[in-house]
Amino acid sequence: MKESVRILMCAPQHYDVDYVINPWMEGNIHRLSRDLAQEQWNQLHKILKDHATVELVAPQPGWPDMVFTANAGLILDHTVVLSRFFHAERQGEEPYFQQWFADQGYTVHTLPKGLPFEGAGDALIDRVGGYLWAGYGFRSELDSHTYLAKWLDVEVLSLRLIDRRFYHLDTCFCPLNNGDLLYYPPAFDTYSNHLIERRIPTEKRIPVNEVDAVNFACNAVNVDQTIIMNSASDGLQKTLAARGFKVIETPLTEFLKAGGAAKCLTLRVTEPRQDSPQASSIQSRMVHLEGHLLDSGIVNRALDTIVSGGGSFQVLHFDLGAQRQDISTADVKVSAPDGDVIEDIMGQLVDLGAVVTSEDISPDAHLEAVVQAGVAPDDFYVTAIYPTEVSVNGQWIKVQGQRMDGAIAITQTPDGLVAHCKLLRDLQIGESVVVGSEGIRTKRTTTTLKKKSTEEFSFMGAGVSSERRVELVVEQIAWDLRRIRDQGGKVVVTAGPVVIHTGGSEHLRHLIREGYVHGLLGGNAIAVHDIEQALMGTSLGMDMKRGVSVHGGHRHHLKAINTIRRCGSIANAVEQSILQSGVMYECVKNNVPFSLAGSIRDDGPLPDTQMDLLQAQADYARLIEGADLILMLSTMLHSIGVGNMTPAGVKMVCVDINPAVVTKLSDRGSLESIGVVTDVGLFLSLLVNQLNKLTGEYARV
Ligand code: ARG
Repeated sequence: MKESVRILMCAPQHYDVDYVINPWMEGNIHRLSRDLAQEQWNQLHKILKDHATVELVAPQPGWPDMVFTANAGLILDHTVVLSRFFHAERQGEEPYFQQWFADQGYTVHTLPKGLPFEGAGDALIDRVGGYLWAGYGFRSELDSHTYLAKWLDVEVLSLRLIDRRFYHLDTCFCPLNNGDLLYYPPAFDTYSNHLIERRIPTEKRIPVNEVDAVNFACNAVNVDQTIIMNSASDGLQKTLAARGFKVIETPLTEFLKAGGAAKCLTLRVTEPRQDSPQASSIQSRMVHLEGHLLDSGIVNRALDTIVSGGGSFQVLHFDLGAQRQDISTADVKVSAPDGDVIEDIMGQLVDLGAVVTSEDISPDAHLEAVVQAGVAPDDFYVTAIYPTEVSVNGQWIKVQGQRMDGAIAITQTPDGLVAHCKLLRDLQIGESVVVGSEGIRTKRTTTTLKKKSTEEFSFMGAGVSSERRVELVVEQIAWDLRRIRDQGGKVVVTAGPVVIHTGGSEHLRHLIREGYVHGLLGGNAIAVHDIEQALMGTSLGMDMKRGVSVHGGHRHHLKAINTIRRCGSIANAVEQSILQSGVMYECVKNNVPFSLAGSIRDDGPLPDTQMDLLQAQADYARLIEGADLILMLSTMLHSIGVGNMTPAGVKMVCVDINPAVVTKLSDRGSLESIGVVTDVGLFLSLLVNQLNKLTGEYARV
């Protein structure tokens, strides 16, 4: 028996599964064998006594999980950080453990109320590196790690747990004596896996498979060369043996029913300090949210963004307002394991309308100079579609030319400072670019905030009522089109070749003729298929009237291209009366400007197709300038391209038979986007019908 290692256990007298606070407990309430549990615990106790001194804390009635002493607190040297349990079901254990630690002469630190941390269950000393691995995500709050670093004077490496089955760090992570690490990588997020890989060299890492993981192989007690665990596969046994470890298996099945095994049932109370500088790379920031926070779902989204981005939060203040129309406000403290992660999260929160506040008196944005043309400084703030302001020299200035995926460039002009949203390629040496997320605010109108999921309509999908629902959206869109046209507004259409294949051409032509369309954006294909149909009555070789393929029809589209090439342009072909109908014909006849963006797969291309992509992007941007509504008809690429260059506030209607495309577009987060999942030809025919009806009704008045 070794004197040097002391372990704390708690007899299972009152142990049971009385409630469910982890997935292992589900279905196991009062379903364990008390006798078997006692026997298994005795066996573990006996084995441990051969390797260490075992101390006991008195079990308490009413606190069935007290057997899991790993969760009593975290010990380093003579200092303990007492656990603050996440679940009320275990909070009553705290005073008993506190008493025990105090009786033993430890200095006991207690965390602020409401800041959960579950002791050695979620924090494990690396016996070679001297630093502390600390888990968060389920039971312990990331912010508690800062206290650990301070009180225990140790470097803390925070790991985010993402699999509910492995809710405590010690269920999937076990640093061994010699610096080896037994762990289950899928239990951690990508960031955490990288952190582990940076600290522990490949040859020292022992990843276990899922079977070993769910048998709690990582929940092992390691004393010197001995590792005690519930069970290990032959493969794992061999691996550990090859590294000089002796594995002792001792069944703990009755404790698995509560989500614990060997390690959970023990707390090592002798944990000597090693030299490791106190450090923690945890970063925190304060953000302020304001608006119709609940209605808009913005709070949920902000908190989700923080957690799914790898951070954690504390809502420090939340004022709901008394009436429905009142504005609510919230101040949230966001923490993340390091600077990169926090900046990422902050960027997303700013996009949601949050303002990063700081104790700093000056909330100015950080600026960095462009030193290479067309290249932004690292950490540049990536713009969103929402109206944005930046604070420079204590003044908020509005960013011009708002679009998504740009950088904010600040330039000095005779009239003062100007902020522009710029594409990377347009950045010039001498300009300053906003970096980080401080001193930036985005404004969302109440309408931009409302979640739009309810506005996604499905037609031709399952569901009886969907037909009527599409009709309803069509009614709305028709009304909008009519209103915009009558007010002299602007509607731009992006269209894919499917519009032609699905028989939508005649309806789109009608819209153009009636003055509802003020710009057409597409690629080579829509024009080619449209012209093929106009010249030969086929679309990609299919007879559009009879719906059958025509002999030799697969060459039709090339012939169509060839004809237009001979003319020099679509407009010339119209002028020479070679092209006498179709969507492109109507554009030319009605002076509707169009831009066709080329791609690698284009046949021909048509002389009008712009193969210089940067130029095509510029043409698109010019055509959508000032648009009130953009109608996106079955073209994912062009629609997304357009979506990216359009600021919030422009209504977008995306029609596609593929729900993924519709979702992608409405995901840009602006609620002005309406998604309609349906056949585009059908949609256009309904739309034209509705417009005609409107005209009729208008006429009657
Ligand atoms: N039922 C206990 C809980 O959910 C099990 C604790 C296991 N302890 C551990 N260190 N993993 O809190």
